[in-house]
Amino acid sequence: MTENYIVFFDSGVGGVTVLRECVKRYPTEKYLYYGDNENAPYGNRSKEEITGLAKRAFEEIACMRVRAVVIACNTVTAECVDALRKIYSFPIVGIEPAIKPAAVCGGKVLLLATRATLESERVKRLIAANACNAEITVYSPENLAGDVERNIENLDNIRLSSHLPKGEFDSVVLGCTHYIYLREKIASYYKCRVFDGNAGTVDHLGKILNICSKNDEKTEQNEPYFYGKSKKVNQKAYLILKRL
Ligand code: DGL
Repeated sequence: MTENYIVFFDSGVGGVTVLRECVKRYPTEKYLYYGDNENAPYGNRSKEEITGLAKRAFEEIACMRVRAVVIACNTVTAECVDALRKIYSFPIVGIEPAIKPAAVCGGKVLLLATRATLESERVKRLIAANACNAEITVYSPENLAGDVERNIENLDNIRLSSHLPKGEFDSVVLGCTHYIYLREKIASYYKCRVFDGNAGTVDHLGKILNICSKNDEKTEQNEPYFYGKSKKVNQKAYLILKRL
């Protein structure tokens, strides 16, 4: 283990769901969480705005002791992971909607993601590459990430029927880390399997940093450090996730 941090970055609280998966798998690493809650949600903004906000956040992140950064945000990954990788030499791991594992099961797949994610060339390519295996419908619940951000302590306040499209699907892909807080509810809403990109992202991080999973229940977890003005909100999210 090194003394440098694996930094998680998201527009707000969504990326805490990825951090949680990572802490469970690699409990002895050092983690720092950076949520740009003041500017969340990102998903209805233009590519230029999202890139500008992400670059500003990375300028702060780069001043910390960084071992790697996980962009725990589908929107930022889709719009500007390549631009960020050109600027920084530390490893940057992104997250993408888990379309592939859903599509290989065939049938009707619903991809839920932010507008920016769905409009990005990166995700359009991902959809096209998997369209031969399944019928993929895409939908952007415009206010859902913002609703999660505001109601992180009272997720029961969120009415899924006002955000989600009607229909019958064989699987749903959660292409936004904010939606993962509602994973169980979305699964019962559509009565089907739900996929997300968290496990794949954590696997990939482990591979590039050469970290081994520790499934031993007794291993003590390193508590993540929450950075900046958003500290309070993110810590609440983390506590909520710990209880799940
Ligand atoms: N959690 C982010 C994602 O995975 C962004 C949501 C937002 O800020 O709109 O896309």
